Amino acid sequence: MCGICGVVGHRPATPIVFEGLRRLEYRGYDSAGIATVDKGQVARCRAAGKLDNLGKALQETPLSGSTGIGHTRWATHGAPTTTNAHPHRAGQVAIVHNGIIENFSELKKVLVAKGRHFETETDSEAVAHLLDEHIQQGMSPKDAAFATIQKLQGAYAIAMIFEGHDNLLIGARHGAPLAIGYGEGEMFLGSDSLALAPLSDQITYLEDGDWCVLTQDKVEIFNAKGDSVERPVQTTSLTTGQIGKDGYRHFMEKELHEHPVAIGQTLQRVIDPETRRIALPKMPFDAATLPRATITACGSAFYAGVVGRYWLEEFARLPVDIDVASELRYRNPPQPNQGLALLISQSGETADTLGVLRELKAAGQRIVSVLNVEHSTMGRESDLVLGMVAGPEISVASTKAFTAQLSVLAALTIDFARSRGTLSEERERQLTDSLLDLPSHALDVLGLFDEIRSMARVIAQARDVLYLGRGICMPIAQEGALKLKEISYIHAEAYAAGELKHGPISLIDHTVPVVAIAPSNILFDKTLSNLQEAKARGGRILVFTDAKGAERLKDVAEHIVVLPDIDAFAAPILYTIPVQILAYEVALLKGTDVDQPRNLAKSVTVE
Ligand code: M6R
Repeated sequence: MCGICGVVGHRPATPIVFEGLRRLEYRGYDSAGIATVDKGQVARCRAAGKLDNLGKALQETPLSGSTGIGHTRWATHGAPTTTNAHPHRAGQVAIVHNGIIENFSELKKVLVAKGRHFETETDSEAVAHLLDEHIQQGMSPKDAAFATIQKLQGAYAIAMIFEGHDNLLIGARHGAPLAIGYGEGEMFLGSDSLALAPLSDQITYLEDGDWCVLTQDKVEIFNAKGDSVERPVQTTSLTTGQIGKDGYRHFMEKELHEHPVAIGQTLQRVIDPETRRIALPKMPFDAATLPRATITACGSAFYAGVVGRYWLEEFARLPVDIDVASELRYRNPPQPNQGLALLISQSGETADTLGVLRELKAAGQRIVSVLNVEHSTMGRESDLVLGMVAGPEISVASTKAFTAQLSVLAALTIDFARSRGTLSEERERQLTDSLLDLPSHALDVLGLFDEIRSMARVIAQARDVLYLGRGICMPIAQEGALKLKEISYIHAEAYAAGELKHGPISLIDHTVPVVAIAPSNILFDKTLSNLQEAKARGGRILVFTDAKGAERLKDVAEHIVVLPDIDAFAAPILYTIPVQILAYEVALLKGTDVDQPRNLAKSVTVE
């Protein structure tokens, strides 16, 4: 969602905050703004659209001062205009906010009745007025901040500055992330460690309900009750190098090229190098007697979960219930005693998934999370974190995090299957070996960009595209369709290939390309028949398969991209890569904003 950052220090604040926003722009890019306090006076500069627009506006309206706050917005309440851009000002304060203030209408009514004038359509402006109202009542900034957050309902990470207080920055969080970075004679606030990476390697992640008072030399943290609390200071190993484009045109292109490393590093975490067997941390339950697992996630992470369900059911004989988090949260299904809830998230901050985590934890489930950002809110609230080692993922479209998620889920499947006695030692070794082959196969797939580009030329002309897969390739088709929609704005739907004849086949003509994910596994013949049915109706067939499949498909498909032979178990991981490259190549042809597609944000911290 939105990104916020702030500094209280001794150097000019604007460039520090601006660069912080640059690193946070992946969280939202509808508008941006900065406010500073200098010689007691608060001033601000805002601009609709990308951060570069703010850069231009700052040239005309430079902001001085060594204390400042900044915001990059993903609009929830109110259009993405300059007026609605943060920071919001009221009287003697300026604030930036990430989240949704659910009781803003009630607050606004009371504040308007007191004579306050609102100039924006946002929920966040109510926070500024409420804060200033407390200041006008004679409270100190610290007391006013505490009184304000006690009246807020919903989710928020807020940074606040005050007229007359050059050496003061106050932050608060509830349901949206906020971290403190420690410097020499300067302190920082940021939505995540990426924002703070070049500024400080000493970071404290605030807990829900925490708020903090920062000056140049001091950090005070309080909990929701107002008691002073200690929170651990962690050393982060993030470097600015990890968050640059490294010469690639887009973060997505860079991150696609990082698939082999992300898979390899993740496997190194879960496979014992000496025995070459899966070695996961001890589970907070007995996998042998586990009655059932519930998997939940959103977007791409959900499709990774669907692959996980196929694996766990087939190899570990474990019944799995799976649903997207926004549905599962309100479905209220019966939960077995001490069952397993498996959550999957790149960011560990997605509000829908986090909501389910809390519901299921309260219902007595054991929470295991598969996360890229291990110190995220989900990480802190889980019973066990299975970390993937994908490195920072900046592009809004998830790529390498998806294959890293699958690598963890594959390892978990083997681990459970061993505990449940459902896998022979020989088969276990074959499955593990197939995973170990993945990084080099992934590297080979990265050599297929040119071939995939010719396929992309067909897709780029289409208005609608169908993606087909059967069995464990179905979620890969879904991932392909999501990625295409997300970054090229072409409508795409994924269907189980066998479902085509039950309705969607009526859509097919020569203008609707059909993309099939069809490795030569036990379902290949069935998929082939479905593709023949589509071709008979004028469909243009584009297929990802292996050499054996290509031979059988040569009279059916217009374009075939041939992938390395791989065990059916590991195939979904490998087949993800060309499907994502296809979306990337189409987006390039369409000339869309690949890394920051319209209407989206990387980390969705609102419901
Ligand atoms: O951070 P998360 O993995 O929880 O995010 C979940 C989805 O929002 C995310 O996968 C989204 O669908 C991506 N933009 C897909 O490319």
